[in-house]
Amino acid sequence: MQAEFWHNCWQNQRIGFHQSEIHPLLPVLFSQLNRDSSSAIFAPLCGKSLDLWWLAQHGKVTGAELSELACQQFYQQQGQEFSASPYNEFQHFSHPAVDIWQGDFFALKPEQLGYIGLIYDRAALIALPEQMRKDYVQQLKQLCQGPVSLVLLSLEYQQDEMSGPPFSVTEQEVRSLFDFASSIQLVAVRNLTGRPFAQRQFKVSQLLEKAFLIQW
Ligand SMILES: C[S@@+](CC[C@H](N)C(=O)[O-])C[C@H]1O[C@@H](n2cnc3c(N)ncnc32)[C@H](O)[C@@H]1O
Repeated sequence: MQAEFWHNCWQNQRIGFHQSEIHPLLPVLFSQLNRDSSSAIFAPLCGKSLDLWWLAQHGKVTGAELSELACQQFYQQQGQEFSASPYNEFQHFSHPAVDIWQGDFFALKPEQLGYIGLIYDRAALIALPEQMRKDYVQQLKQLCQGPVSLVLLSLEYQQDEMSGPPFSVTEQEVRSLFDFASSIQLVAVRNLTGRPFAQRQFKVSQLLEKAFLIQW
């Protein structure tokens, strides 16, 4: 998807992907992690997800998000003070618990993040068309050289029944995209068939949300 597409979504508040509560699997998945409690957490393509505030109870969180509107709403809707300052082609939103790099994820440099111990991907990989998914994973690998754990929430449906985003990303594709990882575990499956995905209802014959724990 091009930047224009996402800017339009935010401008017109067509943000059906946004969840009004934290993801139900987040606390469950998090409790299964064997992580250093002080390590920093990265949330690529974070939108204004409430999951970041939940994660911030467990470590400093850094998000990456294209839309300035999304970043402003992220803090303002929780009544949180923030500051914003320019940094190269980015704007850096600062807050004691959650920082956000506002700009193009693909232009981020490792030094902007520092060492990251955990990556949280909810509706980031699946927001991107096939070629961009490859670039996304390569960029994650570049930014987080490890050791790192990735909690990935993916979505599977018959791609010819609906056009994305969200796109269907099969388990096979996940395993192929992360073929450099030392471990890829499927840790949970939610059957969302006939049920809403955040604020949207899709007319597809089957809809599965799969949670992976990936390490490299
Ligand atoms: C499907 S939404 C998911 C947002 C969030 N993860 C959530 O769970 O609500 C994808 C988000 O990625 C952002 N985005 C898309 N392309 C991006 C890019 N190249 N760099 C940074 N953010 C991007 C969009 O603006 C949008 O907020």
